[in-house]
Amino acid sequence: MLGLGPMGRALTAALLTAGHPVTVWNRTPGRDAEPVALGARPAASATEAVADAPLVLLCVRDHAAARAVLDAAGAALRDRTVVNATSIAPDDARADAAEADRRGYRLLDAAILTPTTTIGRPEGSLLLSGDPEAFVAHEPTLRALGTVRHLGADPGRAAAFDAAVLDLFWTTVHGYLHALALARAEGISGSELAPYAKGLASLLPPIIEDYAQRADEGRHPGDRSSVASAQAGLAHVAHTARARGLDTSVLDAALALTRRAVDAGSGADGVSALVEHLAR
Ligand SMILES: NC(=O)c1ccc[n+]([C@@H]2O[C@H](COP(=O)([O-])OP(=O)(O)OC[C@H]3O[C@@H](n4cnc5c(N)ncnc54)[C@H](OP(=O)(O)O)[C@@H]3O)[C@@H](O)[C@H]2O)c1
Repeated sequence: MLGLGPMGRALTAALLTAGHPVTVWNRTPGRDAEPVALGARPAASATEAVADAPLVLLCVRDHAAARAVLDAAGAALRDRTVVNATSIAPDDARADAAEADRRGYRLLDAAILTPTTTIGRPEGSLLLSGDPEAFVAHEPTLRALGTVRHLGADPGRAAAFDAAVLDLFWTTVHGYLHALALARAEGISGSELAPYAKGLASLLPPIIEDYAQRADEGRHPGDRSSVASAQAGLAHVAHTARARGLDTSVLDAALALTRRAVDAGSGADGVSALVEHLAR
């Protein structure tokens, strides 16, 4: 296991609990106390860590960090299978797989969709893509980490799912934080708002299914909601937020999108039609 941040430690604990021997390494020394106490073997370098390991897990901050670690491990990676569980972009995963081919090791890219507390449990959700044979060979071990699913030979596909899910997550979290700030500016506490925020969130699952189908079919009937109506709704929220001195940049961007869609003739279409106006 290369990388012992919160996620690297959770992955290590899950593997040890399932009875797999694990050697650990982290760039900054002294951060392996917890995994070592659980039974992991400490290594002094990335090269030493991968020496006896048919399966190498990598989980660090970002793509630059992952590349730095892979480069440090160097030729010691030859004939190994590397599972990169660092969150990276799809094209970076594809470039890393090509680099792995050149350097003689197999690469699977993994997207971890759930937090550290789920790792090692069925709620833990990991998507993998890339080298199908490598996945089949190591699936029994990887199952110790949670529910794992292989999405095919394209090394970038897991990262693409990850990016789309995180797109939803971060814009949703931003939306909730903005709502809390707007409520506070109007003298409404977070705990007063929370039940209504939860009520709204419970409406989302059927919308998620419905809009997915509309996006796939490219059909956006405006019988229950329209882009023009959404534009008016967004405008009044942005106006209220601006009047209270709040940052409205995300609302303004959403409003500008509805304007573009209306100008392009989509005003009477359903709100899901906005998906067709996001490609620039
Ligand atoms: N935490 C979660 O719930 C969660 C959920 C899903 C996905 N993930 C993904 O898992 C990955 C790791 O996340 P994390 O929560 O463990 O914490 P993190 O703070 O994102 O990553 C910490 C790890 O990255 C290492 N690192 C940072 N820069 C480095 C560099 N230039 N070279 C080598 N190592 C470097 C750190 O080493 P040092 O100790 O030396 O700084 C440490 O091992 C991220 O890509 C994250 O998006 C995390």
